[in-house]
Amino acid sequence: MDLKTQIDLPRLPKHIAVIMDGNGRWAKQQGKPRVFGHKNGVQSVREITEACAELGVEYLTLYAFSTENWSRPAFEVNALMTLLVETVRKEIKTLMDNNIRLTSIGDIEKLPSKTQKALKEGMHATKGNKRMTLVLALNYSSRWEIRNAVQQLSSKVGRNELKSEEITDAMISEHLATKSIPDPELLIRTSGECRISNFLLWQIAYAELYFTDVFWPEFRKNNLYEAILDFQNRERRFGKTSEQIVTK
Ligand code: FPP
Repeated sequence: MDLKTQIDLPRLPKHIAVIMDGNGRWAKQQGKPRVFGHKNGVQSVREITEACAELGVEYLTLYAFSTENWSRPAFEVNALMTLLVETVRKEIKTLMDNNIRLTSIGDIEKLPSKTQKALKEGMHATKGNKRMTLVLALNYSSRWEIRNAVQQLSSKVGRNELKSEEITDAMISEHLATKSIPDPELLIRTSGECRISNFLLWQIAYAELYFTDVFWPEFRKNNLYEAILDFQNRERRFGKTSEQIVTK
């Protein structure tokens, strides 16, 4: 039986988040510059977006550029920004044809104006689409958004609109960049690195983590199906005991 048909669709993760890693090392293995890896990574973005939409995943979040990535060589940063502009422009039609909404999390206003423009156009064009939401994390880091949330909430406390003891988990979630997005249930990181790298730290409190050695440019639909099957074979206890978990 192929992997896709083994997936239990009613138990699909609603939200999958991916740390796309290994583009540079994959390119190096081929004797090519790092940017070659990023360019090939776009095909994986396409495949995984398509696979998630076909299965019925509601949200797919891709970590495309972190606040720390600015410290890479300028040439690589520029190439990544150009690739983003080109990809978003090229893929708008496919997103429309597949009823996929594009959105973003991160400090977008600090991206180069061309990148912002392409992104905003893509988000505007697809805003009515309902089948799946593709979230690009761009100039994003968890500490950035948690700091923002703390600043916003403490300002409310300062203006006497809120008492500090009234602050709830839900209120914190509401002040994060992901405010209208459910928490991811499955987080995948490619390339053999077992780190979270400042990604969705608050939101992954109960996510299942899946690490694979496959480099991002080689990550294909079957690799995604393997990750989902692995997720479905785990027991998600949310702090309870096995006996308390009601199984169907
Ligand atoms: C990590 O590999 C990858 C990135 C920082 C960028 C990911 C970008 C793309 C796949 C291209 C465009 C994306 C979209 C959403 C249009 P790395 O460079 O850290 O690889 P390394 O760890 O092997 O050095």
